Amino acid sequence: MESLEKILILDFGSQTTQLIARRIRELGVYSEIKSCYISLEEIKNFSPSGIIFSGGPSSVYDKNAPSIDKEIFDLEIPILGICYGAQLITHVFGGKVEKSEKREFGLAYIEILQINKLFKGLRKNKKYKVWMSHNDRIEKLPENFYALARTENSPFAAIACKNKPLYGVQFHPEVIHTEIGTKILSNFIFEICKCKANWNMPSFIEKTVKEISEVVKKNERVICALSGGIDSTVTAILVHKAVDDRLISIFVNNGLLRKNEPEEVLALMKNLGLKVRYVDASSIFLSRLKGVRDPEEKRKIIGETFIEIFEKEAQKFENVKYLAQGTLYPDVIESTSFRGPSVTIKTHHNVGALPEKMNLKLIEPLKELFKDEVRKIAELLGLPKHIVWRQPFPGPGLAVRIIGEVDEEKLNILREADAIVTEEMLKLGWYYKVWQSFAVLIPIKTVGVMGDVRTYEYVIAIRCVESQDGMTADWVKLPYEILERLSNKIINEVKGVNRVVYDISSKPPATIEWE
Ligand code: XMP
Repeated sequence: MESLEKILILDFGSQTTQLIARRIRELGVYSEIKSCYISLEEIKNFSPSGIIFSGGPSSVYDKNAPSIDKEIFDLEIPILGICYGAQLITHVFGGKVEKSEKREFGLAYIEILQINKLFKGLRKNKKYKVWMSHNDRIEKLPENFYALARTENSPFAAIACKNKPLYGVQFHPEVIHTEIGTKILSNFIFEICKCKANWNMPSFIEKTVKEISEVVKKNERVICALSGGIDSTVTAILVHKAVDDRLISIFVNNGLLRKNEPEEVLALMKNLGLKVRYVDASSIFLSRLKGVRDPEEKRKIIGETFIEIFEKEAQKFENVKYLAQGTLYPDVIESTSFRGPSVTIKTHHNVGALPEKMNLKLIEPLKELFKDEVRKIAELLGLPKHIVWRQPFPGPGLAVRIIGEVDEEKLNILREADAIVTEEMLKLGWYYKVWQSFAVLIPIKTVGVMGDVRTYEYVIAIRCVESQDGMTADWVKLPYEILERLSNKIINEVKGVNRVVYDISSKPPATIEWE
């Protein structure tokens, strides 16, 4: 483990810094992201084989723009600057960076002017598709630098230094739309930094377990809220491997779970060898939700009640010092300024107030990973397919799928309708093809006729979307036969429903969940 070659990524605040780390992991090399503000000493101690400067929202000539200790360039460690990173290298070495008259956002074509190690395998004078996102551009190169590529609007779209292992690209090689991106990153880490590809998901598991066991002292305990979903389950397994019975897993039934869910979660945890403390708090949640119609108010009550119950359970144990959470990178990017000076976009519902309130330190082993990477780990840890590939389910559960007030009757109707959707989607081979497929209860009664009798019952909406990450989504064009089958089954088998509709809204402007 000690002989691992490492790439250090210095974060200057780009929204795609994690993607750089991800691409490097995919190439089989270990990388870590650190803030651009870390000291030279820390960089030396980290002993990287190569350094990447990420992009960022600033302009190098801004008063408070993040800079870099110039001595980093004397370490003789290869450096690749991406976008802001490339501009920073230019600026530090005396070149000129200015606001570009024509900004470049999105696809552009670069023309390769010279082939060197960074562009090994590419063709001179050929144009390649790249993804750009910048206001500023390099106007004049510093002494001893030369241009490797240009675009229509950037004469210095890629640069290199003649007498030091320094490289810069104005475009983003980490983004999949840059067709030569992986090639360039791979050239940087293998041809220039001379790394070997010896990092993989088993090494991730090994390293994470080792780190957790070093952090948590022998008399300390870790607490974890299990939901039965992949993120919290994988987190609990990793922590359990590290601290064994000093992990306390708590599963709170908030009364807003799907049909048979509590029983299934408990059985799964037993199979995985995790001891779980089961707390049935359904009646508390439901009584607090009585009469509440506003979606945000419902979410707030559920969140606060969860914290209260969890805290009460946690206090029954001594020496609890850590809270393990299954936070993934997409949860983090939106909620905090990650390592460097990035812009906060919105506060996510799951990264909550619990640790501060309970004075706990956080263990978030999946914080730098994307969902598909967590799925790979889950498979390696032996989790069953239906957990690894399960569709996302929101923390506030069925409460955000019942419009308006939540009560036991509506929950029971929704549970039955939802179970039919899931069962049929699985049976017909669609469940794993889509991002989410579920039922929503619309608390409006409409007139129907069943066996010559007038009915007056609720409406169920079916929501089925495809998405990469839940941030944007499109409704799935399910075949009519499937919609017909779902509608027939729900109306025939679920008492209290006489009408089914299909939601054909995309996100944005709608959201995936109805509340
Ligand atoms: P929306 O409804 O915002 O949902 O389009 C995007 C994705 O997030 C899930 N979701 C949640 N997940 N806690 C969660 O863990 C929540 O409070 C929550 N709200 C929405 C939703 O199911 C979809 O996949």
